[in-house]
Amino acid sequence: MKYFVIVGHKAVTTGDFKLDDISGGAGRLDILIRCVNSAFFLSHNIRRDTELFMLLQGGDDPPKTIRLSGQELRYLNPDERSTSSLIRNALIKKLGEDEVRSSPGIYVSRMSFADVIEMLSEKGNIIYLKEDGIDVRGLNMPADPIFVISDNKDLTDEEETILMKHDPEKISLGPHSLHGDHCIIIVHNEMDRNVQ
Ligand SMILES: C[S@@+](CC[C@H](N)C(=O)[O-])C[C@H]1O[C@@H](n2cnc3c(N)ncnc32)[C@H](O)[C@@H]1O
Repeated sequence: MKYFVIVGHKAVTTGDFKLDDISGGAGRLDILIRCVNSAFFLSHNIRRDTELFMLLQGGDDPPKTIRLSGQELRYLNPDERSTSSLIRNALIKKLGEDEVRSSPGIYVSRMSFADVIEMLSEKGNIIYLKEDGIDVRGLNMPADPIFVISDNKDLTDEEETILMKHDPEKISLGPHSLHGDHCIIIVHNEMDRNVQ
């Protein structure tokens, strides 16, 4: 299994945003939505071996985590608008302590960044994708990697402290600072090529 954690520092946490305004009023939700596309879509298939955790930390009701499970996903289309609509449906759900299923393969909970990292650290090896990490080329990816990516801002000092407690491998994908969704494509491709 491959896991991706994408942190949306200002991303909305309630369902009252406009689908036409995901890059503005929804706190750069567009960045996270593009990560959904990169994490799951092949040309004519879905990557079933992938899970994506969207950490929503902005808006009026933070934190919330939306988990997308490739094994179960249905009704996912490549356009950002329809994915935003699925996410909006998840954000409308009433939440208690437990994760709630919103639609097939899409779950929402009140987990924080620390909760998600703690929970995932039991499942595999954490990799912090970072511009100044060690070069991905020539590295063997561990089994069940958990890739942590930030949005248009770097992780905060507090988030980095939480992450570093788990002693992650810090990996760079190349010489330029890239968009998070592009990082996901590169990671998938590197792993695809290593398996074949
Ligand atoms: C748009 S960048 C973050 C913003 C950028 N650091 C800044 O403040 O200008 C989004 C995220 O993608 C990941 N990333 C970007 N370029 C990368 C690279 N060359 N290697 C590994 N990860 C990268 C990092 O997790 C980064 O936080």
